[in-house]
Amino acid sequence: MTNIQSPWRSDFPALSKTMNGKPLAFLDSAASAQKPQCVIDAMNDVLTGGYSNIHRGLYEISQNLTQSFEDVRKKIAQFIGAQSEKNIIFTRNATEGINLVAQSWGRAYLKAGDEIIITEMEHHANIVPWQILADQIGVVVKVVPVTGDGLLDLDAFQSLLSDKTKLVAFVEISNALGTINPVAGIVRMVRKYNADIKILVDGSQGVVHRAVDVTAMDVDFYVFTGHKLYAPSGIGVLYGKYDVLDSMPPYQGGGDMIERVSFKSGITYREAPYKFEAGTPAIVEVIGLGAAVDYLVDNSMDKIAAHEARLLEYATEAIQNVAGLTLHGTADLTQKAGILSFTMDNAHPSDIGMVLDQCGVAVRTGHHCAMPLMEMLGLNATARASLAMYSEQSDVDALINGLNKVNVLFG
Ligand SMILES: Cc1ncc(COP(=O)(O)O)c(C=O)c1O
Repeated sequence: MTNIQSPWRSDFPALSKTMNGKPLAFLDSAASAQKPQCVIDAMNDVLTGGYSNIHRGLYEISQNLTQSFEDVRKKIAQFIGAQSEKNIIFTRNATEGINLVAQSWGRAYLKAGDEIIITEMEHHANIVPWQILADQIGVVVKVVPVTGDGLLDLDAFQSLLSDKTKLVAFVEISNALGTINPVAGIVRMVRKYNADIKILVDGSQGVVHRAVDVTAMDVDFYVFTGHKLYAPSGIGVLYGKYDVLDSMPPYQGGGDMIERVSFKSGITYREAPYKFEAGTPAIVEVIGLGAAVDYLVDNSMDKIAAHEARLLEYATEAIQNVAGLTLHGTADLTQKAGILSFTMDNAHPSDIGMVLDQCGVAVRTGHHCAMPLMEMLGLNATARASLAMYSEQSDVDALINGLNKVNVLFG
C-alpha cells in the first residue's frame, strides 16, 4: 500500500489545526497557500526588531532593511532565471502586474485596431485589464479556444496571429483546470510569425509547481503573486525584459519613483524597476517572499514537482472512482499540475463544498475567476481541489471520503 507523505508538512503550522473538529485537509492552495514557519519568522523578525521605512533613512535599521529588501529582488531574479534584479518589479499581486503592462506599455505603444491574443482559460486578471484597454483605446481582444480536454487549441492560436497582433498573453498553468500550457512551443510559434510581438505569461500557478526560467522561455513579461508561493498576500512580481521596461512610461506617480520633481523644470523619473514602484512598498511582505523563495530553493522545485506529480496521479485515479463525478480538465498527467476541478451529478458545487467543510476538507467552489472557461464548459461552477508541496495522501483520502458522503446525502 502506498502512503504518499510530504517531507515538508511539519514546516507549515496551520496544517496541524482542525476544522469543524476534524483534522484539516487543506486542498485550496491554488487560491492561496499556507505559509511555512520560516516565512512567518522572517516577517516577525522585521516587525519585532528591525522595522523602518526603506530607501530613505540614513540610520542603521533603515539601511539594513533596505539592503534586505533589495537582496530579495536579487533572489527573485535568480529564482526565475531573470538576467538581473533590474528586471524585477514588485507589485501588489499578479493582477497589478498585468494592469501595469496594459496601462503603461499598452497605452504607450498600442492604437485602435491593434490586436491582443489571450485564451479562453485565462483568469479574469488576464482578461479584464485587456478589455479595459479595449474600451479605452480601441484595441481588439482575440481569444484562443480551449478543447474538450482542457487544452489550448494551438492550430486556432496560430490562425489568430496576424499583422495586427501586438501582444499575446496566456496562462502557464490554468488555475481552473490544472492544464500546463506548452509555453516554449507557443513562444516559438509567435516569435517565428513575428519576433516583434510581445509575449506575457501569467505564471501565478506556474511558478508554484515547477522551476521557471524566464530567460530560456524568452518572454517579454512574466507575472506571479506571492500568496500562492507560500509567501504573504500583498506582494507580487512583474518580470520584464529590460529594454522593454526601459521603454515604458511610469504606471503610477508618487514618492520613490522620481529623480527630481520641480514645478519649474518638470519631473524626471528613476530607471526601471524603480520608476514603476511609486510609494512605500510592501516591505514586510517582500521579506516574507524572500524567505519563501529561500525555502523553495533549499527544498528544490524539482523535488516539490515530483512529489506533487505522484500525489496528482493517486488523486486522479481515486477521484474518478467516485460515483457520478465528472473531472474537468483531462489532459494527460504530464500536462497537468495538481489541480482537480470536478462536478457531481447529484450535488451542486456549493453543496459539495459545504459537506466537505464539515469533514475538515477545504476546497474551492465557484467559477474560479474564469467565467469564460466555465461558459465554454457549460457550467456555472465546479468544485476544485488543489495540491501543494505539503499535501499528502491523507488529504486526498479525506476528500474522497467526503465525496462519498456527498453521494450518500444527495444521491
Ligand atoms: C492563473 C492566475 N492568474 C492570476 C491570478 C490572480 O492572482 P492575484 O489575485 O493574487 O493577483 C490567479 C489567482 O487565483 C491565478 O490563479
